[in-house]
Amino acid sequence: MAESTHRDGPGTAAGAARTTAPAPGPGGRDPLRDTVCLVIGGARGIGAAVVEEFARRGARVVVGDTDRLPSRYNHYRSTETTGYGEAASLAERLTGEGLAVRAARVNASDEAQVRALYAGLAEKPGRLDTVVNAFGVTHVCPVADMELAEFREVVAGNLDGVFLSCKYALPLLRASGGSIVNFSSVSGRTGFGKVAHYCAGKFGVVGFTAALALEEARHGVRVNAVCPGIVRSNMWRYLIAEFTRPGETEEECWERMRSMIPQQQFQTGEDIAGAVAYLASARAVTGQALGVNGGMTNP
Ligand SMILES: NC(=O)c1ccc[n+]([C@@H]2O[C@H](COP(=O)([O-])OP(=O)(O)OC[C@H]3O[C@@H](n4cnc5c(N)ncnc54)[C@H](O)[C@@H]3O)[C@@H](O)[C@H]2O)c1
Repeated sequence: MAESTHRDGPGTAAGAARTTAPAPGPGGRDPLRDTVCLVIGGARGIGAAVVEEFARRGARVVVGDTDRLPSRYNHYRSTETTGYGEAASLAERLTGEGLAVRAARVNASDEAQVRALYAGLAEKPGRLDTVVNAFGVTHVCPVADMELAEFREVVAGNLDGVFLSCKYALPLLRASGGSIVNFSSVSGRTGFGKVAHYCAGKFGVVGFTAALALEEARHGVRVNAVCPGIVRSNMWRYLIAEFTRPGETEEECWERMRSMIPQQQFQTGEDIAGAVAYLASARAVTGQALGVNGGMTNP
């Protein structure tokens, strides 16, 4: 089980100093203040940075995560992920700082669990303004060696939960005029070898987001996606171990990855969280997939 990235240092998923200043709305008021936000996959990595961004800007945040994934085809290489335990620790730490954060147990790929989560939110607090679907899984394998089960599990691990979470969120979001931010990737904009299933899932997130945005525009719900580049989370620690070439150290592999980024620097969880907060409050933006990747793709 890989360690949490949550308390890591600068340049990692969630450990860099907070860089985004509260964005005042028309009256000088932060548009996220007093809103209610659900972040699924928010226990660690980029999702945890989103939780902190929203909570520090005055939102009440529910952190959803799971201790069990449906298959071992994920970057934790196990069905046991301790995600809910880490969500509970994160909520406890931020609550201790006076912020409004609580944890919820949910596997986004499990329809009964997703339905129950949203039914609970409809009862208490009874409103929801932002849904961030920050979960995702990856695994490394060339197509020539890939089993159908692996292909299906990785595509489903990135797409099923987006469908389920969006579907069951809609009644609450229509009532509040709220919005959804789905997590795609630079791998949802261009192909990378040995992660074709992950690319298929993340391209799927972009298409699903665009289609749902059209359906929901007249109901007042906005739907966007964010496409991170390389954030040094648990996901990328696994990828680095897999992509390190014979004779190369992991540090040299990190350098090779960094050199692929036009800006020559990795993104942080805070970079991505700032983009998510922007999408959550940009009233004229819907159906978009925003790259936050140092210039790796255009769009
Ligand atoms: N790290 C990067 O560089 C990078 C780049 C592009 C896109 N992304 C995407 O960003 C998102 C966050 O990734 P990360 O790097 O922070 O990974 P991470 O593993 O650190 O965090 C992902 C979290 O999602 C949870 N999760 C996974 N499947 C779940 C499910 N079915 N239900 C509930 N929770 C689930 C995990 O338990 C974990 O806490 C993912 O969608 C990922 O594909 C990451």
